[in-house]
Amino acid sequence: MQEKRFKENKIKKEEFVATTLFGLEEVLAEELSNLGAENITLGSRAVYFEGDRAVLYKANLYCRTAIKVLKPIVEFDCPDEDALYEEIAATNWEKYMSVEDTFSIDGVVFSSTMNHSKYVALKTKDAICDQFRSKYDKRPNVDTVNPDLRLHVRISKDVCTVSINSSGESLHKRGYRPKTEMEAPISEVLAAGLILLSGWDKRTPFIDPMCGSGTFLVEAGLIAKNIPPGIFRKQFAFEKWRDFDRKLWTDIVDESYTKRHHRLNTLIIGSDISKEAVEVARESLENAKLGHEIAVECIPFDQYIPPTGGGTVFFNPPYGERLQENDVNELYTSIGNRLKSKFPGYVAWLITSNPEAAKNIGLHPSKKFTVYNGALECRFMKFELYEGSRKMKKRKLESEE
Ligand SMILES: C[S@@+](CC[C@H](N)C(=O)[O-])C[C@H]1O[C@@H](n2cnc3c(N)ncnc32)[C@H](O)[C@@H]1O
Repeated sequence: MQEKRFKENKIKKEEFVATTLFGLEEVLAEELSNLGAENITLGSRAVYFEGDRAVLYKANLYCRTAIKVLKPIVEFDCPDEDALYEEIAATNWEKYMSVEDTFSIDGVVFSSTMNHSKYVALKTKDAICDQFRSKYDKRPNVDTVNPDLRLHVRISKDVCTVSINSSGESLHKRGYRPKTEMEAPISEVLAAGLILLSGWDKRTPFIDPMCGSGTFLVEAGLIAKNIPPGIFRKQFAFEKWRDFDRKLWTDIVDESYTKRHHRLNTLIIGSDISKEAVEVARESLENAKLGHEIAVECIPFDQYIPPTGGGTVFFNPPYGERLQENDVNELYTSIGNRLKSKFPGYVAWLITSNPEAAKNIGLHPSKKFTVYNGALECRFMKFELYEGSRKMKKRKLESEE
């Protein structure tokens, strides 16, 4: 049986779980630690931590790699649907909502006896509504769009954890993305996570020559200027909680303005072969108030000339699902050729779900991570483009050792 992390009905107010993408758990743990979170432990696509209300608010505002931050309120053994109903009915829901409030329930189920997340959500809703009905002859309504309370029910190996979602809509929805639909934009959480994983120093140039809608450019700009990714959001779910501390929240938001750098102290630039992509990237940057500091041009990569002196170049090229095999191999060959001839002193990072095509780059990755872009398993690879001859490269490696 799965070990229970939260003691039944005795959960301290300060225990939280931030969910994330596969491969970004350690990055998120570090972000949380920097915000003052304590007793941090890693899970699978989740990070468990403790903190006070300020840490919870900051986690929502500042964490670039969190998808949502949950506050577990009750955990119990749950072998079947009767156990689910009984335990939910035994929880005092008036602590979290009134009969006039609206609520929603997300269900996630990994269980051999109950495998329908919608049914689990329905059973939970019934137990909550029956509790209010027996007391007030009235029940709270469900609102899936803008509820007062968002519940998250997770059943895994016969243990059910019920949490309140403090974030609301997924935190990857920063609020700067234009409405125009683009080809395969990368998730904002993944883009930020990859930049943090790369260890970019925020001082040397950052280039995305296949920028699409500009997600890497915006996230790099926000990181470099210390702007919290949540600053563009209209609302977080915790703002509707009964114990919401408006003064504390306003102070945290105000403090974030004092911590940001007013000027971008580095060069961040993007380009793309598609004019439409360039337009959308510019709009994203405008929405994120970075349009005056980050330029985007329409240039095919095989004609791209980077600034001299080195820096970091990020690629999220097409993976080949919509291309002929020859075309995708050619694309990766041309990326490799251009890197080798025009990018001395640069570090290149590339994410792809097509490691076979990536072999055509003709460079050995010095680091590799496995991440998921949506459902696609991807490699995130680092290539180092040394200045000068192989001899110099060898000497550089030896001196680093
Ligand atoms: C997967 S998309 C990038 C998505 C981007 N990271 C985002 O978040 O929107 C790949 C991009 O590579 C661009 N591209 C493809 N071949 C290119 C080339 N030879 N030179 C420059 N850009 C190219 C495409 O136009 C497309 O915008």
